[in-house]
Amino acid sequence: MPLLQTRDLVKMFGGLRAVDGVSIDVDEKTLTLIIGPNGSGKSTLINLITGFLKADSGRVVFAGDDITNKEPNEIYHHGIVRTFQTPQLLKSMSVVENLLIANVHPGENPLSALRKGLWLKKEEELVERAFSILEFLKLDHLWDRPAGTLSGGQMKLLEIGRALMTEPKMIVMDEPVAGVAPSLAHDILQKLVELKEEGITVLLIEHRLDIVLGYVDNLYVMFNGKILTEGRGKEGIEKVVNDPRVAEIYMGG
Ligand SMILES: Nc1ncnc2c1ncn2[C@@H]1O[C@H](COP(=O)(O)OP(=O)(O)O)[C@@H](O)[C@H]1O
Ligand SMILES: [Mg+2]
Repeated sequence: MPLLQTRDLVKMFGGLRAVDGVSIDVDEKTLTLIIGPNGSGKSTLINLITGFLKADSGRVVFAGDDITNKEPNEIYHHGIVRTFQTPQLLKSMSVVENLLIANVHPGENPLSALRKGLWLKKEEELVERAFSILEFLKLDHLWDRPAGTLSGGQMKLLEIGRALMTEPKMIVMDEPVAGVAPSLAHDILQKLVELKEEGITVLLIEHRLDIVLGYVDNLYVMFNGKILTEGRGKEGIEKVVNDPRVAEIYMGG
């Protein structure tokens, strides 16, 4: 059974069917890509999956649990974390601080943890975890810089680092390499492959196909709120890439 399934998801904005009956399967420990021209409903779809928008109908099932229309915080506790098209960093705080605050759950009371004598130990563990993530992302030399002084690509990496602090089962990313120089984009995608190899499932949204294609296991093409076509595995993906309808929606858009 796939780790994540959506079934006939629908989201209306007034009369517009932004997501129009979308069913996808994201297999565990794969890198699954959703592409489509601007306005095809990709961001809306991941907002439905992560609870930032409520579906009008349809279902989202994650690891066997129905998570349809749950609150973002609750979905996050199921093990789904997302990154945003614009990194949500605190720019005046240091790189490592941005990781440390990523892990304070809303509703968690640091004082009660302190009373239990757990706080210091926990903090130590978090700092260790933060530094190992920074090393993995090759940002460790920048640990004390204000996040606002990083390059665009480094900010995207740090945003991924924040997601990793939560020890997720699945990361959902909205255009993680948009606006990033090609060589750094390949570095970021390579990191996502390494995460997958460590057992994290990755769901990726991209506008462009060329840069990400070599890294993905399964692929969906969205257009006008619907899944136009899908490809699983190398052969399936190649069929999609050579599908004239796919070229057409990009020409038209
Ligand atoms: N909050 C909103 N209110 C009204 N319309 C929206 C809203 N968000 C997105 N849309 C519309 O829904 C469609 C899909 O948008 P979106 O999911 O952002 O597409 P994509 O991420 O593929 O570019 C677009 O026509 C967009 O204008
Ligand atoms: Mg979008």
